[in-house]
Amino acid sequence: MKRRIEFGELRIGTEAKMNLLDCVSKDWASSGPKVRKFEEKWGKLFNYKYNKALSSGTDAVMNLVSSLYEFGAKRGDEVIVPALSFIATANAVSMAGLTPVFVDIKRDTLNIDPDKIEAAITPKTRAVLAVHTMGVPCEMDKIKEITDKHDLMLFEDCCEAHGAQYKDNYIGTFGDGAAFSYYVAHLICCGEGGMVSTNNKEVAEAVHSTRTHGRKNGDLYFSFDRIGYNSKMNDLEASLGLEGVGEFWQTYRIRKTHLFYLLKETAKYREFAYFNEQPDGTDVCPHGFSVVLKDEKYNINRLCEILDNHNIHWKRNFGSTPTQHKAYEFMGHKLGDFPESEYVGINGIHVGVHQYLSMMDLERMATAFSEFFEEVISNNY
Ligand SMILES: Cc1ncc(COP(=O)(O)O)c(C=O)c1O
Repeated sequence: MKRRIEFGELRIGTEAKMNLLDCVSKDWASSGPKVRKFEEKWGKLFNYKYNKALSSGTDAVMNLVSSLYEFGAKRGDEVIVPALSFIATANAVSMAGLTPVFVDIKRDTLNIDPDKIEAAITPKTRAVLAVHTMGVPCEMDKIKEITDKHDLMLFEDCCEAHGAQYKDNYIGTFGDGAAFSYYVAHLICCGEGGMVSTNNKEVAEAVHSTRTHGRKNGDLYFSFDRIGYNSKMNDLEASLGLEGVGEFWQTYRIRKTHLFYLLKETAKYREFAYFNEQPDGTDVCPHGFSVVLKDEKYNINRLCEILDNHNIHWKRNFGSTPTQHKAYEFMGHKLGDFPESEYVGINGIHVGVHQYLSMMDLERMATAFSEFFEEVISNNY
């Protein structure tokens, strides 16, 4: 059997090992100088003003939306999220004591459909949380127009979109704050880890406090201003992240070449599937390569079987959070409420484009996709 092509891989290089050794030699493993340095270096990459490192992307989203309480939100108030995303987006909103309100996506971009947002706004809506799924930036102009018009806060879940740009601005700079993940599949990997980046001082101060139990700013030991969590990143995680920051643009370029290679090799099959192309005016983060079949009859299970035969790790395109996952059954939505998300949840998969793939790996991936689409063509539907 050929080597399995993973969605993402972690390789710990010399710089990270030295950082880890430094921690170990000082008997230091909690949040400290390496986290501070990581925050600073990460912020400089994209010119984000305030950067607060957290223990995961999920915690980053949870702490970010918790900042709504500083601006008058009450428990149970609503945050608009896309119906299709990794479930952590909705879970983070729920864990913060807020209510996720789901809006359907667009099948071709996998992102929230701006034209459906206004219908979901109620007197309890406090924010829109836009998710740049698979590294493709959302239509931020349209979304910002809506949040401005309705006086809502705008947050970005950038967990899959490090370094992406929309109209020459880095994602994460369009609203009141952004959340990032440093899990293995992402361009910077800390093992586990996350970040809130924001240009909004009040949001930054709130996250600074909630990530450590809601301590009074200034970190007074047993004085708590708000309900908080224990969401701090530690120096071992930052040790890996510091190496990732240094190599970021190299990683970005390599992964981008991989994404463009797969897009080029599958271009002749556009009639049969949506791939995560780069929309005009954007620079897509090379997070993964997504395939959504344009007709159910092309049979996604056959594509999965072919990828398995080639030992290529694939993942489903998340599923519609409110209607395809038992976890959100309690909200009472029913199948058919989010048709685009549900369609993508069934008929979409993604594979990796990570920086350690070889040319042979990429060729194997292209061969697997050709094998599938040539079969579709020969079936003459
Ligand atoms: C869109 C999105 N939001 C949130 C998360 C959660 O990040 P983490 O796994 O670091 O908790 C992920 C994870 O990859 C994600 O893709």
